[in-house]
Amino acid sequence: MDTRQSGIPDGAIVVRNLQKSFGDHKVLHGIDLTVRRGSILALLGPNGAGKTTTVRILSTLLLPDGGEAWVNGYDVVRQACEVRTSIGLTGQFAAVDLYLTGEENLLMLGRLYRLSRADAKRRTWELLEQFDLVDAARRPVRTYSGGMKRRLDLAMSLIAAPPIIFLDEPTTGLDPRSRLALWALIKDLANNGATILLTTQYMDEADHLADWIVVIDEGRVIAEGDSDSLKARVGAEHMDLTIASGSDFALAQQMVDGHQLQADPERRVLTIVASHGATTLKQVLQRLEDAQIEVESVSMRRPTLDDAFLFLTGNGSHGNGTDRIQEIQEKVRYG
Ligand SMILES: Nc1ncnc2c1ncn2[C@@H]1O[C@H](COP(=O)(O)OP(=O)(O)OP(=O)(O)O)[C@@H](O)[C@H]1O
Ligand SMILES: [Mg+2]
Repeated sequence: MDTRQSGIPDGAIVVRNLQKSFGDHKVLHGIDLTVRRGSILALLGPNGAGKTTTVRILSTLLLPDGGEAWVNGYDVVRQACEVRTSIGLTGQFAAVDLYLTGEENLLMLGRLYRLSRADAKRRTWELLEQFDLVDAARRPVRTYSGGMKRRLDLAMSLIAAPPIIFLDEPTTGLDPRSRLALWALIKDLANNGATILLTTQYMDEADHLADWIVVIDEGRVIAEGDSDSLKARVGAEHMDLTIASGSDFALAQQMVDGHQLQADPERRVLTIVASHGATTLKQVLQRLEDAQIEVESVSMRRPTLDDAFLFLTGNGSHGNGTDRIQEIQEKVRYG
């Protein structure tokens, strides 16, 4: 379908005023977003923000209560079949069978997608190669490491070469090296023309991968832009003040109240937005000196996406419960 002729807004994924409740609990309060063809959009938000719910609606696993969404030009409610043939989705099919080998998993899924035996085999080995799983191809998946399982999961979502890919927290629970490897694969997919919508709680992931970042909190879009523009929203330089003594930390925190952005008691660091540059710095140091609190070091830096996120959501709740989510996701993914 040509989206321009039909009056559907152009874009690989277009979402307008999307709403969803579970019982009395409204979890999406009207989400708007557009993903350009061939780009990577990161849906960034803390636990419970509504990321997975959005992805489930866009991949036709869940019906919205209101609003509209098109994927590859197809309406997610009225043209669910067409949407399904346009997308790959990791994690949600829970299709990885631990007792089969990687090769068998891919072949089986290829056949499910009605590829001929020869095509399924060709595609399987292409993907095993691309995802660095050739050596492990003939081993049962239950012997794979977390990173290998995740790569197989991603490979399986690509068996039918879909133009649009949804990745729900693709790197949660991976060690840094496996994360970097997966990032490179995701970048490659986009460079080869795929459109990707990924969800993440990791600012650095959004920073590294995404052309466009949509920040959601409690079912609402609270900001969007590229990573530079989001960082710029937080504005001025940040100063990190390290307090010399841990026993002074709570008092120091009180003394700079009104300025403070973030407190890290373990490292004894208070992060402050220097909205008036050196004047702010002088004020804060004066206050601490008046309270006889010794400052070990002061450093100024440009805000990170992490700072932007804290600033925009007005809390530090993201990241809490990550272990539990990981546990649940592992269960969902790998049975
Ligand atoms: N099937 C369901 N029934 C009832 N409530 C649900 C259901 N699915 C999600 N919710 C609730 O909807 C809200 C949004 O959940 P969602 O899973 O979309 O968040 P998320 O942004 O993906 O969070 P996380 O980072 O923890 O994965 C949460 O409060 C969650 O408890
Ligand atoms: Mg989620």
